[in-house]
Amino acid sequence: MVNDPTYSGSGRVGETRGGLILGIESSCDETAAAVVERGSRQLSNVVASQIAIHSPYGGVVPELASREHLRAIVPVVEAAIREAGVTMGGAGLGMKDLDAIAVTEGPGLAGALLVGIGYAKALAYALGKPLIAVNHLEGHIHAVLLEHAAALPPAGPLLALVVSGGHTHLYLADHRNATWHYRNVGHTVDDAAGEAFDKVAKLLGLGYPGGPWIDTLAPQGNPNAVKFTFAQIKPKVHRGGQRPSDAPHLFSFSGIKTAVLRYVETHAMAASIAARRQQLTPVAKPADALACCDQQTLDLVASFQRAVVDDLKRKTFAAAEHYGAHGLLISGGVAANRELRARFTAAATERGLPIAFPALALSTDNAAMIAAAAWPKLVAGDFAPPSLSARASLPLGQ
Ligand code: KG4
Ligand code: ZN
Repeated sequence: MVNDPTYSGSGRVGETRGGLILGIESSCDETAAAVVERGSRQLSNVVASQIAIHSPYGGVVPELASREHLRAIVPVVEAAIREAGVTMGGAGLGMKDLDAIAVTEGPGLAGALLVGIGYAKALAYALGKPLIAVNHLEGHIHAVLLEHAAALPPAGPLLALVVSGGHTHLYLADHRNATWHYRNVGHTVDDAAGEAFDKVAKLLGLGYPGGPWIDTLAPQGNPNAVKFTFAQIKPKVHRGGQRPSDAPHLFSFSGIKTAVLRYVETHAMAASIAARRQQLTPVAKPADALACCDQQTLDLVASFQRAVVDDLKRKTFAAAEHYGAHGLLISGGVAANRELRARFTAAATERGLPIAFPALALSTDNAAMIAAAAWPKLVAGDFAPPSLSARASLPLGQ
């Protein structure tokens, strides 16, 4: 356990040296390693993306993901250590200077997680360093705290929206007794928001993952051109028109994906989509897509994005009000979306509610967020047993 009187729980860096954590992340299609000092100072953040490998399939192929993690893990960790190359006491930073190895335990693809966990366990054992298990979702929350803890209210619950390709979750995050506590207060009942971005992009003949493509094209379209309605999802127990205080805030994104499909069919867009698929080679970038999109497609993309962002915003702010949240943390791959950032920021400013997003590089999967989330656990001496294994469906909080 690290004896650390300077640790405030906010992840701010004190004057004392130490607290160097190597984070390893391999839960999905990114092999990542990073060195972070005391939960807040990134010394390196290396990500090897598998996008090019999964792109032809329009989604992550689990077997390919595991194989690529195996290929990438050693060079990625070596690069993270090398790039962290600060000098400490005159000597270069090496593995021996690490205080702990942190690794994503779950949720994620079991085979992919096992590569990171196996490597982290071996490394921790060989170096005689403690091993720390981190929940990937907690990692996403710490991607924001890593840089913005000081700007957020020090007391009271924060509401965290984790919105990615696999998750759309709301958590109340509270820092008490030197530990972060999480309560899950909302989730999607079907697809995650990022999944909807990916599926709609695929349907329209755009590249993978779909979010950045839609983000790039949407400003060129009319967001009010196509009206999408979100069915109101009611909690099961819902008497007398009063929302039960413990009812979760629910999202649903499979309906809008079907609505886009129906729009494409009824507006005879199949031929133009097929032509776009031909034009956009696997190496094409989101900016290349503009030249192969007619106004009807751009309007559809803009309307889809507006509808998803508005739904996320409405429910997140309703939950913030319901729980009296003192601030908002928005993280996960979809938090990179420009319209989402602009509309959430405007709504928070209107309400006088502090809001924070991760830097773009920390929005999508990375290992700096894993190393940052591990810091309070290092301080608390919360170490993983040697039997640590992958937990594909690991929940966060109660
Ligand atoms: O957090 P992440 O890297 O992996 C998961 O844990 O899922 O999130 C990936 C997801 C993908 O669905 C991707 O399409 C989406 O984040 N995404 C975006 C943007 N950048 C990535 N969605 C909307 N707008 C973006 N700019
Ligand atoms: Zn993620």
